Amino acid sequence: MGLLQDRRVLLAVSGGIAAYKSADLVRRLREAGAAVRVVMSAHAQQFITPMTLQALSGARVRSDIFDAEAEQGMGHIELARWAELVLVAPATAATLARLAHGHADDLISTLWLAAPGRKALAPAMNQQMWRAPATQRNVEQLRADGVLFFGPEEGEQACGDVGPGRLREPQALLLDLARALAPQDLRGVRVLLTAGPTQEAIDPVRYISNHSSGKMGYALAQAFADRGATVTLVSGPVALAAPVGVEVQRVQSAAQMLEAVQAGVAGQDIFVACAAVADYRPVSVAPRKLKKTENPGALMHLQLEPSTDILATVAARRPRPWVVGFAAETHDIEAYAQAKMQAKGLDMIACNDVSRSDIGFSADDNALLVLWPGGRRELATASKAHIAQGLVDTIIDVWRSKV
Ligand code: PMT
Repeated sequence: MGLLQDRRVLLAVSGGIAAYKSADLVRRLREAGAAVRVVMSAHAQQFITPMTLQALSGARVRSDIFDAEAEQGMGHIELARWAELVLVAPATAATLARLAHGHADDLISTLWLAAPGRKALAPAMNQQMWRAPATQRNVEQLRADGVLFFGPEEGEQACGDVGPGRLREPQALLLDLARALAPQDLRGVRVLLTAGPTQEAIDPVRYISNHSSGKMGYALAQAFADRGATVTLVSGPVALAAPVGVEVQRVQSAAQMLEAVQAGVAGQDIFVACAAVADYRPVSVAPRKLKKTENPGALMHLQLEPSTDILATVAARRPRPWVVGFAAETHDIEAYAQAKMQAKGLDMIACNDVSRSDIGFSADDNALLVLWPGGRRELATASKAHIAQGLVDTIIDVWRSKV
């Protein structure tokens, strides 16, 4: 199952230099399992040919509202009704203006008015045009009409300017679409997660940590939030933006993570421990930087003590949320994971093979074996966003069958 399996997306390409990115977007949408129809403005065809988008989408590309042959297949009203979501990407300043004012004078603006499904715009234009009061008035109007905005991004522009107005990258647009089309079946469900590594200080400049990037935990938090859950994420130090709609509490050490989890766990329905928490920490933290010049060439001995197991602590509470742990293993994965699930008293465990460089720590992809008493499910290698959707589906299926 792809991230957008069988979802029906109508992509409208308007005429800006960023139109070349729509080829990559169409390819990614198809790979994610979506059915894609493409329409183009006359100006868009100056930047990319209909043939390219037709080959990638597998369907005829339309650009003219008065196309007798196309109307014999799927008429423009039918096409508008067919789409679960209409995305205009790139959306130029002129297109924004026409859509904000309800013009129906070309194929894109007509489809826009006739489409009953969700609508989204991915703007792309010169930064001054984006900042112009007229454009901002149009954006405000469209937002008030319930239109979703994906971007624009800030950065260097094709014209040499720097500022807001770059089209969001195709992969980010794919995730935006998955979010916009997710069912809202977890409204009222409260979820607490941990993610990322912890850092255990040795002295003011050094620490013990691990290779966790936080990508898996952040993707999970996003997947829960996309379905309407109220999500709190306790995160170790990572270089990731907060997932949309998620409350993030940033901590550094295992002790701080434990404190934040204990403060937030009451009243949660589900707890998922995805963080790679340090199992040991220095017994004492040197108040000043340890200088190698003080004992040149001598061995340094660090005394370590075990940190509290956050997952086991939550699982031992009464009352407690439904508890899902992770297991990072390099061998005998299933046996170790089963033992961890029993020893910590978990409702479910998701194990990954961290001996591989293509999945697990830091990688963009992962693969999981999910175990619970009396059941198992394998989630084959895919992007962490995709794996997160599969794990959320699995957690919700089993959780709903038990509570
Ligand atoms: O962050 P990424 O780069 O995306 O990588 C994702 C990941 C590999 C870190 C993630 O998928 C993963 O496996 N997380 C768990 C890592 C881990 O610490 O596994 P473990 O087998 O050592 O611990 C078992 C469980 O106990 C985990 O749920 C862990 O969060 C929890 N634990 C461990 C020690 C401790 N003191 N407190 C805990 O809560």
